Amino acid sequence: MDDVLLVRAEGISKSFSGVPALKNVCFDLRPGEVHALLGENGAGKSTLMKIISGVYTRDEGELYIEGRAAGDLTPLSAQKLGIGIIHQELNLCPHLSVAENIYLNREVSSFGITNRRKQNREAQKYLAALELDVDPDTPVRELPVSKQQMVEICKTLSMNAKIIIMDEPTSALTDKEIEDLFNVIKMLKAENCGVIYISHRLEELSRIVDRVTILRDGRYIKTLDFADTNLEEIIALMVGRSLNEKFPKIAVERGGKVLEVKNLSSPHGVGVKDVSFELYQGEIVAFAGLMGAGRTETARAVSGADRASAGEIFLGGKKIAVKNIRDAIKEGIYCVPEDRKKDGLCVKMTLAENITLPSLELVSNFGVISGAKESEKALKMKDALKIKTPGIAQCVANLSGGNQQKVVVGKWLMRKAKVVIFDEPTRGIDVASKIEIYNIINELKKQGIGVMFVSSELPEVLGMSDRILVMCNGRITANLETKNTNQEEILKYATRYA
Ligand SMILES: Nc1ncnc2c1ncn2[C@@H]1O[C@H](COP(=O)(O)OP(=O)(O)OP(=O)(O)O)[C@@H](O)[C@H]1O
Ligand SMILES: [Mg+2]
Repeated sequence: MDDVLLVRAEGISKSFSGVPALKNVCFDLRPGEVHALLGENGAGKSTLMKIISGVYTRDEGELYIEGRAAGDLTPLSAQKLGIGIIHQELNLCPHLSVAENIYLNREVSSFGITNRRKQNREAQKYLAALELDVDPDTPVRELPVSKQQMVEICKTLSMNAKIIIMDEPTSALTDKEIEDLFNVIKMLKAENCGVIYISHRLEELSRIVDRVTILRDGRYIKTLDFADTNLEEIIALMVGRSLNEKFPKIAVERGGKVLEVKNLSSPHGVGVKDVSFELYQGEIVAFAGLMGAGRTETARAVSGADRASAGEIFLGGKKIAVKNIRDAIKEGIYCVPEDRKKDGLCVKMTLAENITLPSLELVSNFGVISGAKESEKALKMKDALKIKTPGIAQCVANLSGGNQQKVVVGKWLMRKAKVVIFDEPTRGIDVASKIEIYNIINELKKQGIGVMFVSSELPEVLGMSDRILVMCNGRITANLETKNTNQEEILKYATRYA
């Protein structure tokens, strides 16, 4: 007899305020398989997963868990059925410890009282499985994003789920952490669990995936055995056309020196150590390196998000003081930050409000915000970036993950800048939208703006930059012409202890 399917979803439809997000979608999950769910930003992947895990209820269709009709699930009843979900956006309580987060609402207790020691011991087991070297007592807010993501993964594993949904688990992880996660996925497979895997990092699929299902615009397109397909076919099915050029690099004559950073250091720990570099007009300089190499810290120091302890910054030959973000913005240095939820967006505000927030003077008349001007600017940006949402009055919290990222990018593009810093701008962005973001970066390049581009994806570093600064342990270890280098050389400098 065939194994009973862990999940069978048939004819699922779901609308939000009358706008359909899923239309008659089918999906199934076998025991012991990793099934990737793929599609562009806003295709409906997270919505389908939230239906399977009881966060949303479906409007139409039937859902069977291990052969039984599931009715309307709630997060709790889904959990009881063995469904665990690692959400795309981190859902941890920052002030609680690692162990408290893992066992939130399921505290490990003795005689009705939370037993912290026992709870920490239990948590430690899961931390060890992921080779995660953190003290279970550490407050989560003190961990970097990648470690927080790993805690989120531990939390789901500790529920002993049989059906594990991973919505973009690797977008913020280091290579080593991805390796550990993939080992855990292999263990889960061996235990006959099923994993639903969502990712925009298509290159990693070949390492773990058995089948793929593709959604486009809320519709089911196709399910394929991974062994019988290839990335070109998958991308064409996702996008509905074939993409001929992944990296639309343009040639621009390099102008004068726009930015010079001399001997920059950050006050705490490894951060940034004695970093010096130059940036020219119309130039894209990528900052490559492993997670924790000091790239984000450099971006933060130059853009005033952190105060440097030593060093000088020159803009157009003139020394400037950047004590905070406001100083940097006044000078024309903008940063598109890495952590969109924390630094980049006000999720409770609308798309239009978020996009125009840094540029209120451009949408105001005599100091009063003009709704008409705000709408006009926001609409223009929504179209330019192809942000998928019914309207600019939509609350940003309701946008899909990738579309939120586009808003973070868009809000800085309204302004006249001299230097724009992008920190992992394409994280969580689908293949086709990545190209739109690259085109925007090219647009800035054409205007003679200097672009600092922090990215952990070497193909895009090599595909889009003119020059590459490699960092390791807070220092710059190499300054490479993009056309004369390759992945191996970059990795060599990224791991060289400097
Ligand atoms: N709570 C909500 N209210 C209103 N609209 C929503 C809500 N949740 C999702 N949507 C809309 O449903 C559509 C599908 O979103 P979903 O988050 O499922 O996309 P996704 O495939 O996960 O995309 P991404 O790759 O960007 O994460 C989007 O247009 C989104 O704006
Ligand atoms: Mg999503």
